[in-house]
Amino acid sequence: MRDRGVIYTGLLVFLGIITFPMWHDWAAGTTSRGPDPVLPAQEKQCVAPLSTMRTSHMQLLMDWRDGVVRRNVHTYTAFNGRNFNMSLTGTCLTGCHTNKADFCDRCHNYAGVAVYCWDCHVDPKLARRSAK
Ligand code: HEC
Ligand code: HEC
Repeated sequence: MRDRGVIYTGLLVFLGIITFPMWHDWAAGTTSRGPDPVLPAQEKQCVAPLSTMRTSHMQLLMDWRDGVVRRNVHTYTAFNGRNFNMSLTGTCLTGCHTNKADFCDRCHNYAGVAVYCWDCHVDPKLARRSAK
């Protein structure tokens, strides 16, 4: 068994490489967990079913924008019959997702999405703070 040293060294190198993501995350202080967006406490149902929002919230917001700005349509009747004012900051960020940083931003940062809406639209929470 003269190869024992070589085999054990090889095994150690192999284990080191295969566990690299774990100790790399540990050393960098990051985790490989998901973005963990914080859901609103006061509402349980969004303006569309969860599966629709997950895949198509951007399209829905664009439709709202086009409706309001181009067609003067301000009311959205949801799948369950509830009516909503079609407003990004006035409805989404005021009525439900009052914590944009822990909901929208967490996921967009995680997914590397740069949302240009905030060039103009202001998070109502920040607007209130700077008005003081
Ligand atoms: C260049 C500035 C600008 C950018 C960028 C922008 N918007 Fe707007 N948006 C406006 C203005 C101005 C209005 C009209 C506000 C009004 O009539 O009260 C508006 C209205 C809207 C409305 C309807 C009114 C409301 O209260 O929300 C929605 C929805 C909307 N935008 C969504 C978006 C989304 C989604 C994005 C990003 C994909 C976006 N906007 C990017 C300027 C902008
Ligand atoms: C669970 C993850 C997640 C959450 C939470 C989330 N988004 Fe997104 N959003 C995405 C992803 C992923 C994309 C990019 C999709 C693509 O490029 O096809 C995106 C894209 C968008 C876009 C289109 C941007 C563009 O330039 O095309 C808008 C607008 C948007 N999100 C608004 C919001 C708002 C407002 C919130 C909070 C109320 C929010 N999102 C919460 C994952 C999320």
